[in-house]
Amino acid sequence: EMPLLEQCYNLLDFEAVARRVMKKGAWGYYSSAADDEITLRENHAAFHRIWFRPKILVDVEKVNFSTTMLGTKVDAPFYVTATALGKLGHVEGEVVLTRAARKHNVIQMIPTLASCSFDEIIDAAEGDQVQWLQLYVNKDRAITQRIVEHAEKRGCKGLFITVDAPQLGRREKDMRSKFMDPGSNVQNGQQTDNSQGAARAISSFIDPGLSWADISWFRSITKMPIMLKGVQRVEDVLKAIEAGVQGVVLSNHGGRQLDFARSGIEVLAETMPVLRELGLEDKIEIYIDGGIRRATDIIKALCLGAKGVGIGRPFLYAMSAYGFDGVDRAMQLLKDEMEMNMRLIGATSVGELNQSLVDTRSLFNH
Ligand code: FNR
Repeated sequence: EMPLLEQCYNLLDFEAVARRVMKKGAWGYYSSAADDEITLRENHAAFHRIWFRPKILVDVEKVNFSTTMLGTKVDAPFYVTATALGKLGHVEGEVVLTRAARKHNVIQMIPTLASCSFDEIIDAAEGDQVQWLQLYVNKDRAITQRIVEHAEKRGCKGLFITVDAPQLGRREKDMRSKFMDPGSNVQNGQQTDNSQGAARAISSFIDPGLSWADISWFRSITKMPIMLKGVQRVEDVLKAIEAGVQGVVLSNHGGRQLDFARSGIEVLAETMPVLRELGLEDKIEIYIDGGIRRATDIIKALCLGAKGVGIGRPFLYAMSAYGFDGVDRAMQLLKDEMEMNMRLIGATSVGELNQSLVDTRSLFNH
């Protein structure tokens, strides 16, 4: 029998419930990752190799973990990252995440391959709520240009170009179930073929020819900040700065693309010392995603120099298990964990989180 929402005490609890209540194919699509899922496991495991060096006797009665992301004030240093096919988990799809993001004053990144239409997700936002767009670049650049211009017109405040998916990875769990719920089809009008699982079916339009040379074209068609999502080495962070983008997400797509890609947190630890050495750390905003399940994970990322973190599956699982109330509780649990752990580490604001508060000696040696 189904655990009550109140019995979910952390983000991992939602995963256990989702696994039991979701249809097999939908669970397969959300939970799967590439090949042997080594990177999927490593994403969370990498955080286990970072330890804290807390400060004592700091007055932590008042703790504030609000911050800004691309100029937007948010109540917590996490955002809802883009995940395709929201209706596999909940009949209402991505708009459930929109409402929860609104309640907690965090940003939602809208996926190109959402189940709801882009305008439905925009219309579900209220007041000055901020949303970003995740972009898969179409071989037909006219289609991409229309999507980008429409997003800017509708008020999107950031364009996150996914750069780790010239071809969708092999998610064998998903392929085995050959699943495509007719009610959850994406709204992009593409011809689909579900013989290779949901992921392959929806992604055939993505341009494997996308390259650095295209970045200036994006700059010419939009004033939105341009971000590269899926950067995996410091050399490419430096190229991104040269290309004039506003930021990067160090990410391996939740382990769904290249198996044996390193975790975002490890790439972050490789990147920041180089940027500091070159005096470039203020030239770009750096985010990470992948495997973030606890506020301690978020705090570690901020200590190492991330501006914020993206969270994918946990919110999908919370939504699939309990709808809006689930995502609401998941976000509140993270905020409660943030407050407690900031106190225990001896920091009263995100500005006080720095390298001296973490011990990363085991991160690279394992
Ligand atoms: C994703 N992700 C993703 N990324 C992207 O750029 N475009 C997309 O359409 C999707 N779709 C998608 C679907 C599902 C079901 C998952 C789980 C993930 C990747 C996502 O944005 C993010 O990088 C990871 O989800 C982060 O890892 P965690 O938080 O899921 O561990």
